[in-house]
Amino acid sequence: MPESKSILILYGSQSGNSEEIAIQAGKSSSEYGLKPTVRGMDEVDIASIKEHTRLLICCSTWGDGEQPDNAEDLWEAANSGAISSLEGLNFSVLALGDTSYDLFCESGKEWDKWLESKGANRVLARVDCDVEFEEPAEEWTKSVLEIMSKIEDAPVAEANVPAEEDAIDITTPMVAEKDVKETSAPLPAKSEWSAKNPFSTIISENYVLNGEGSRKETRHVVFQLKDSGLTYKAGDALGVVPQCPPELVNEILSLCGFSGEEEVDTHLGLCTIREALTTRYEIHRVSKKWLKGLHERAGESSGKVEIKIVGRKRYSSTDGSLILDWKSTQDSDLPEGYVEIGDFEDNSAILLHELTSDTDSMEDYIWSRDYVDALGDFRRVGFTPQQLINGMDRLKPRLYSIASSPDFETGTVHLTVAIVRYNHHDRDRTGLCTGFMADRCDTNATQVGVYMSPTRSFVLPEDGSKDIIMVGPGTGIAPFRAFLQQREIDSSSGRNWLFFGDWTEEGEYLYREEMEDWKKRGIITRQDLAWSRQGDEKVYVQHLMERNGEEIWNWIDNGAYFYVCGDKQYMAKDVHSTLIGICVKFGNMTPEEAKDFVETGLMKTEKRYLRDVY
Ligand SMILES: Cc1cc2nc3c(=O)[nH]c(=O)nc-3n(C[C@H](O)[C@H](O)[C@H](O)COP(=O)(O)OP(=O)(O)OC[C@H]3O[C@@H](n4cnc5c(N)ncnc54)[C@H](O)[C@@H]3O)c2cc1C
Ligand SMILES: Cc1cc2nc3c(=O)[nH]c(=O)nc-3n(C[C@H](O)[C@H](O)[C@H](O)COP(=O)(O)O)c2cc1C
Repeated sequence: MPESKSILILYGSQSGNSEEIAIQAGKSSSEYGLKPTVRGMDEVDIASIKEHTRLLICCSTWGDGEQPDNAEDLWEAANSGAISSLEGLNFSVLALGDTSYDLFCESGKEWDKWLESKGANRVLARVDCDVEFEEPAEEWTKSVLEIMSKIEDAPVAEANVPAEEDAIDITTPMVAEKDVKETSAPLPAKSEWSAKNPFSTIISENYVLNGEGSRKETRHVVFQLKDSGLTYKAGDALGVVPQCPPELVNEILSLCGFSGEEEVDTHLGLCTIREALTTRYEIHRVSKKWLKGLHERAGESSGKVEIKIVGRKRYSSTDGSLILDWKSTQDSDLPEGYVEIGDFEDNSAILLHELTSDTDSMEDYIWSRDYVDALGDFRRVGFTPQQLINGMDRLKPRLYSIASSPDFETGTVHLTVAIVRYNHHDRDRTGLCTGFMADRCDTNATQVGVYMSPTRSFVLPEDGSKDIIMVGPGTGIAPFRAFLQQREIDSSSGRNWLFFGDWTEEGEYLYREEMEDWKKRGIITRQDLAWSRQGDEKVYVQHLMERNGEEIWNWIDNGAYFYVCGDKQYMAKDVHSTLIGICVKFGNMTPEEAKDFVETGLMKTEKRYLRDVY
């Protein structure tokens, strides 16, 4: 039975954001006199929710509007009809998502609606967070804990006795109680290997797929699975844990005058500052939180003596006439252009003031700068090793769609990786993980942490006789190479139609030989190639879909599956609207009917329009 003033905080999380918020909310709740139990959604029984008076849910959305993996089973159980009423339960939901996906914060919305439908009391409206979730999450946490702390415990009988019609035995104990600190330890993973406990392996092949003269660098990277016991299926993704560039670590240490051996306290426990900068934080991009922390520190150090400016006069140095006569009218009044000067030199203080007061300036600044740039700009500020890491973004693994079938490429996982390279402020830079794989992983030598991220939705039809249409320009080809290998090895009789494209045939026709061979042998039934920088006309995959609209409609009408992989910002959106257009034109539907057919019929009900977009 939960203690008095207890609060259950559940997280549905795949890459750790909702988990972090839930753990933080757990830590803060004691300040409000609440006794927290923080759990992953895969660690509780749906019936146990009924035992509580207070419930917080932090849940992200994955795939195409789906529950994160650790929430799937609980969501299924919630919808099994096992719970008839949650009256007496007080709740609020924090939904994490990304507005660039069509189904924004869908999972959080689903939980919110479900709890309401069961008669639970929503004490604070759901908050839907976009990519920048930190501030709204903090505000939600503070507000909801304040409200929850004022709610009295429900009488024991009401909170604990199951309604007679409830099918589940609610005396089923929850998993062993853990305190809040313990919850930041690795989750009991389904596979032994996870983002927090990756399998350490080597890259055995790593080569550029582009033709000579291409301005792109797309690599084929092969990891060994050795005796890990890791398994996967075509459609899954691989998580890769990068390490920061040693030159950047050394430069930061030298700018701060640290030896590298100083001990710091991180989210993963104590370690040297060198280790922290190498494996625990993202040092290739300065974070907003770090800059804001610097601003607060500047405020602190200049705040020992309070000075209020009540007026300011300025006279011309040439003729002595009065050119400024300003008087304070309110406490917050400051003359135009005034910047408080702390321990920083003027320019640093002005820059920091500008960054923290103007969102666009902040975005602009962090887009092109790392900590070497920032330490240069704020060189007069002193840092202890701990102050240096406070506010830095935690290092996160990156996901890559797997480009191989486990049956075809036994014991290995293949990826198709677009290397991110750019130059800012006269220094060459790379994306963290792609730079790591391209420049700092010696073949058959460097140890790299990996884990599997299985998909439930982006899978081949069980029935191999079904036709499939695959749209995957650029690195979007990756899972389709896996699909084609799988369809070949399974001798699936269904037809395979591939839409691929990139800049030019010469430079960016990825896996050309394999594709040509598959075409020759009839594994690829149809192939349409779109080159956007070849010839006068910019041709993209959606243009080729349009040209083949009638045929696509015939395939779909005949039960074909439609897959899209790659860029979510533009490509996936254009392909989506083109598909709707095809249904209007050749399926004899109104635009509204076609939209419903694609978004509800194909995507949700029949699940044969599937996307893996990023
Ligand atoms: C499910 C899934 C599957 C994926 N599959 C693949 C795949 O098969 N192949 C693949 O290559 N990627 C794939 N990705 C993307 C991959 O996870 C990484 O995001 C990508 O490789 C970049 O990682 P990085 O660490 O090198 O770059 P980061 O260090 O994370 O930096 C990337 C960021 O750099 C920024 N950037 C780019 N150019 C510039 C510039 N000129 N100036 C400043 N900033 C810039 C971009 O905004 C981008 O956000 C997938 C992602 C997901 C979620
Ligand atoms: C492959 C992928 C698919 C996603 N799909 C959606 C989506 O359909 N809708 C949405 O709102 N957000 C989507 N997101 C964004 C995540 O919900 C967001 O990154 C969130 O902060 C992740 O939180 P978590 O670490 O707790 O899982 C997706 C992110 C990725 C990487």
